[in-house]
Amino acid sequence: ERNKRQLLLEINKTAANYFYYQLNGDQGQQAREYLENRRLSKETQIHFGLGYASKYSNDLYLYLKKKGYQDQILKETGLLTYDEKRGAHDKFWNRVMFPIMDVNNRVIGFGGRVMGDGMPKYLNSPETMLFDKSRNLYGLNYARTSRKPYMIICEGYMDVIAMHQAGFTNAVASLGTAFTAQHSVLLKRYTQEVRLAYDSDGAGQKAALRAIPILKSAGINVRVIHMDPYKDPDEFIKNLGTEAFQERIDAAESSFMFEISVLEKNYKQSDPEGRASFMKAMARRLLEFPQELERNIYIDAIAGRYGIASEELKRMVNSFGASMS
Ligand code: UTP
Ligand code: MN
Ligand code: MN
Ligand code: MN
Ligand code: MN
Repeated sequence: ERNKRQLLLEINKTAANYFYYQLNGDQGQQAREYLENRRLSKETQIHFGLGYASKYSNDLYLYLKKKGYQDQILKETGLLTYDEKRGAHDKFWNRVMFPIMDVNNRVIGFGGRVMGDGMPKYLNSPETMLFDKSRNLYGLNYARTSRKPYMIICEGYMDVIAMHQAGFTNAVASLGTAFTAQHSVLLKRYTQEVRLAYDSDGAGQKAALRAIPILKSAGINVRVIHMDPYKDPDEFIKNLGTEAFQERIDAAESSFMFEISVLEKNYKQSDPEGRASFMKAMARRLLEFPQELERNIYIDAIAGRYGIASEELKRMVNSFGASMS
């Protein structure tokens, strides 16, 4: 098994090099232009080992065969697909390639992006002996040595790369899969605090709501970065620049206040009944803080934000607390 892992790592590395040379060779013109349009410097491309899987549908397979690797092991790399008609052929075809590295800089899988509006936008390696999506975070191999007091979690390849390029080298991504308990255990080795930089759309907000309790269970403090009016960190930095992004990071709100702001949207604030229900819901959520001091700080923050009298909210929280015990 150990030898097999070694062999798979070796093949992945060979493939990453192959993609890299294709990006920088005759075939790579369009891909180079694509990356340039996305404002990734040559240095950044090299740092992340970006590459290109050409339009020839079998060239990687033939290349690896020529290197002496047998079909049996190639089958387990996730780099090829098989069907009865064509037999083995390359899984990645005419895509910009992102090698996925583990914390020890070993290539464990790949993501490939179409250079236009094709579907799927990103194609990823399947789970293999090396690649377990729920246990790896893209960019952690660099972020782990960033010496910042917190990590930034975002959604995608391009977000991680854009942030690192702008100097936010503490950014990692869970790559489209949900953030898992294993991810949080992994992160806990390197940091006590996370700032979420998920997309500002509904999916991103949902992802943040799901990640918060998982991170908190691992003992990680969570704050949420506001990306609006932009969609994600990559677009934010492209439009407003590094300093503005740093300001957003500094202004990240506590996960609790973020959860309350999401909760607010469920109630019609112009309607007295809706507003009363919202207050009750907030009061119930405030019971999450067992310590009075901390609870009162959040009561004051919420009262201030939503124009409620602190004392009134406090009374409501206490009455819910009393009925619970
Ligand atoms: P997004 O759709 O937000 O893409 O998906 P993005 O990262 O902003 O990509 P660009 O900027 O258009 O290039 C977030 C992440 O979800 C995963 C990828 O990891 C992506 O980075 N994803 C998305 C997939 O795996 N497959 C898809 O088809 C789409
Ligand atoms: Mn190919
Ligand atoms: Mn998204
Ligand atoms: Mn994007
Ligand atoms: Mn996005």
